[in-house]
Amino acid sequence: RKPRLTAADIRARKGGEPVVCLTAYTTPIAEIVDRHCDLVLVGDSVGMVLHGLPSTLGVTMEMMILHGQAVGRGLSRACMVVDLPFGAFEESPEQAFRNAARLMAETGCQAVKLEGGVHIADTVRFLVARGIPVMAHVGLTPQSVNTLGGYKVQGRGAEGDQVLADAQAVTDAGAFAVVLEKLPAELGARISREIAVPTIGIGAGPDCDGQVLVIDDMLGMFTAFRPKFVKRYAQLGQDADKAIEAYAAEVRARSFPGPEHSFAAELKNG
Ligand code: KIV
Ligand code: NA
Repeated sequence: RKPRLTAADIRARKGGEPVVCLTAYTTPIAEIVDRHCDLVLVGDSVGMVLHGLPSTLGVTMEMMILHGQAVGRGLSRACMVVDLPFGAFEESPEQAFRNAARLMAETGCQAVKLEGGVHIADTVRFLVARGIPVMAHVGLTPQSVNTLGGYKVQGRGAEGDQVLADAQAVTDAGAFAVVLEKLPAELGARISREIAVPTIGIGAGPDCDGQVLVIDDMLGMFTAFRPKFVKRYAQLGQDADKAIEAYAAEVRARSFPGPEHSFAAELKNG
């Protein structure tokens, strides 16, 4: 069996083989993702994807810990990263350390991810200096949806320089990788050329050092939500709809359960 990948292994991929990442929130999916991916992110997207929240703002430490524990039970090779949720790290480096340490101790993850650039760089430095590998996240940062005014493409035109400065600041502070979300492909390529650690793109074009998608998006679990940057590799939502429709029809027609699903009163052959 291949050894467990560490944050340092991911960092060392700069300029080499692309870093393959997906999110996971449950043990069975984590087991499958672990067979094919280098890095598994327990994203705070879990709040929207599995809990029906309207944004990631309502996600709690308790939710991240519960899903982190579930994912941790399914992993043996991939590097496991857990998101710090909104409100758990912005106040001070000390608050961030306390919550990041709790995520690591209670889930067994090897690193945490937090959103932000220049303004959060001191916190990244504080965590890394105290033994917590940090993955950063710049560009579209969904926890800031209310100040950004929506889930819009970031860094178009002159704003690109600010996103590059954000990526550089967190890299200088010691982040081992940087997620680039929803940027023009040219800017994704430029940041990937400029910074010394792997960029992990989501809607940031083909020239990032790795890619990540939300697992439920790429599996087609939803019918409505379909951003441009998501490719659907399966249609599990449609399959589930068909399966549940067939089950309901068979129960109503009393054709399920059949004899093969039912128990007899007497055991045959002793
Ligand atoms: O929460 C999440 O799933 C993420 C990825 C989209 C990068 O932050
Ligand atoms: Na996230």
